[in-house]
Amino acid sequence: MRIAVIGAGLMGHAIAYMLAAAGHPVALQDPSDASLASVPERFARIAETLRDGNDVINRVTMHANLADAVDGVGLVIEAAPEKPALKQALFAELDTLTGPDVILASNTSVIPIGRVSEKVQHKSRVLGTHFWNPPHIVRLVEVVQTDHTSTAAVEQTMAVLANAGMSPVHVKKDVPGFIGNRLQHALKREAIALVASGVCDAKTLDFVVREGFGARLGVLGPLEQSDMIGMALTLDIHEVLMPHLDTTAVAHPLLREKVENGETGMAAGRGFAEWTPTEAQEVRDRFSRFMAERAAEKRSGKSGSA
Ligand SMILES: NC(=O)c1ccc[n+]([C@@H]2O[C@H](COP(=O)([O-])OP(=O)(O)OC[C@H]3O[C@@H](n4cnc5c(N)ncnc54)[C@H](O)[C@@H]3O)[C@@H](O)[C@H]2O)c1
Repeated sequence: MRIAVIGAGLMGHAIAYMLAAAGHPVALQDPSDASLASVPERFARIAETLRDGNDVINRVTMHANLADAVDGVGLVIEAAPEKPALKQALFAELDTLTGPDVILASNTSVIPIGRVSEKVQHKSRVLGTHFWNPPHIVRLVEVVQTDHTSTAAVEQTMAVLANAGMSPVHVKKDVPGFIGNRLQHALKREAIALVASGVCDAKTLDFVVREGFGARLGVLGPLEQSDMIGMALTLDIHEVLMPHLDTTAVAHPLLREKVENGETGMAAGRGFAEWTPTEAQEVRDRFSRFMAERAAEKRSGKSGSA
């Protein structure tokens, strides 16, 4: 199946790589010449990481024009910037440029798919394909169904993704943040609240996650863990703890204050914590080592399943 990937940025180029590596002819579209020009070098980096000798670039065509890119495709994956109005306009255009059976997928991180496809007439072929960064290492894709999406579109998309070595899961309701980002940001809300109320500083909080329950999260999900220890204990813990967890229903004031003060993270030398250039580099090095280990695991074929 010929596939179009819209947006050749951080996510789009790597999504295109994975699909082309699985044998699909891929049309990669981006209005920015600079983005398209960066693709061969970015592909070479992925190939090096995966030690992939496959000549993937030969199966990918580059396009500035949307109509050219989607000509003859069976699936379109949109990975343009996370701006609701831009995505809505793109999907309205894709709706008119493609036949009603062509599947239209958005890689939005948190915007509900129903909102992205508000202006689409043929809504049964629209769904979410939420890849994680970087897709060649983190293989999860959340395939998000709306009230209108057909079962056939979900099944076909999951089959294409699984065949490309990804790990698709079916998200049965179009909730903001889907599954992964809801969990991730629920944790961040409590983390920020703990720091804001003076329970600990940011570096201590991260240490607790990394050295504590985070150390086992890669092999033991939170519900598996509850089932393993017995749910009665989880119930006892929740009876005591739930009333005390943060329920701030907007972005936390501490986060807003930091952003407004220019304390935006490692690049600024200060975010939730203070960072010298050496400390920031140590964190990046730690993350790079982890990614290299994960890449080696992928090469040896080890992966998880839902
Ligand atoms: N970065 C992440 O970690 C991550 C993870 C999962 C999902 N996403 C989502 O993927 C999408 C893309 O994110 P990214 O990080 O690759 O962004 P990016 O800024 O790296 O890339 C976006 C690309 O889209 C191009 N673009 C701009 N206007 C366009 C248009 N009208 N049509 C087509 N292309 C256009 C830009 O030139 C750019 O190359 C967003 O919706 C984002 O939320 C990002």
